[in-house]
Amino acid sequence: MLIQIPNVLTSDQVAEARRKLDAAEWVDGRTTAGPQSAMAKNNEQLPETHPVGLELGDMIIGALQRNALFVTAALPLHVFPPLFNRYAGGQSFGSHVDNSIRQIPGTPHRIRTDLSCTLFLTAPEEYDGGELIVEDTYGVHSVKLPAGHMVLYPSTSLHHVRPVTRGARVSSFFWLQSMIRDDADRTLLFDLDAGIRQLAGERADHPVAVQLTAVYHNLLRRWAEV
Ligand code: NI
Repeated sequence: MLIQIPNVLTSDQVAEARRKLDAAEWVDGRTTAGPQSAMAKNNEQLPETHPVGLELGDMIIGALQRNALFVTAALPLHVFPPLFNRYAGGQSFGSHVDNSIRQIPGTPHRIRTDLSCTLFLTAPEEYDGGELIVEDTYGVHSVKLPAGHMVLYPSTSLHHVRPVTRGARVSSFFWLQSMIRDDADRTLLFDLDAGIRQLAGERADHPVAVQLTAVYHNLLRRWAEV
């Protein structure tokens, strides 16, 4: 399931992030790519341990923890500290799949990448091109969102970023390990949760909402890794 999470950051938070990122020193993005994706990758990136990246990453993680749509869609177990990239002057990232396992910088911990996240920090009017193109079994999706909005998609998907031919595209990108490894299982839980919310919204004490909430939690209990 590919899902858009609107308004992860406020416009003030986006402005703060852009001000700090625009003043930072960027490096060649190939430093975090595997050998195959390094051949496809052409962009700039903030070094993984850059203090601005760490500070803004904490801000993003805090915002996500308060975002109900993100939590119900991702059911996150471990979230990789957000990274930041920039494409300009025709830069692009050719078709690739993200590494399946990632070590969290400066720690012995590794995560399995179940979901890939891109949080847009530039308004679509500021640049031409730069669409994130995600291929899944339902076809090809083109994603270019307002600043502060995020897309989540299964890390199993082939994807690429089209060349940026005017302006610059600045984003945060990261991965997460979900409590629910399988995308289809996670989608079922998300749909069930949406149904329960709708029912409870019509009548808060609806007995069927209580019954379905029990089913939701009992499925989560069967399937979750915690
Ligand atoms: Ni990627």
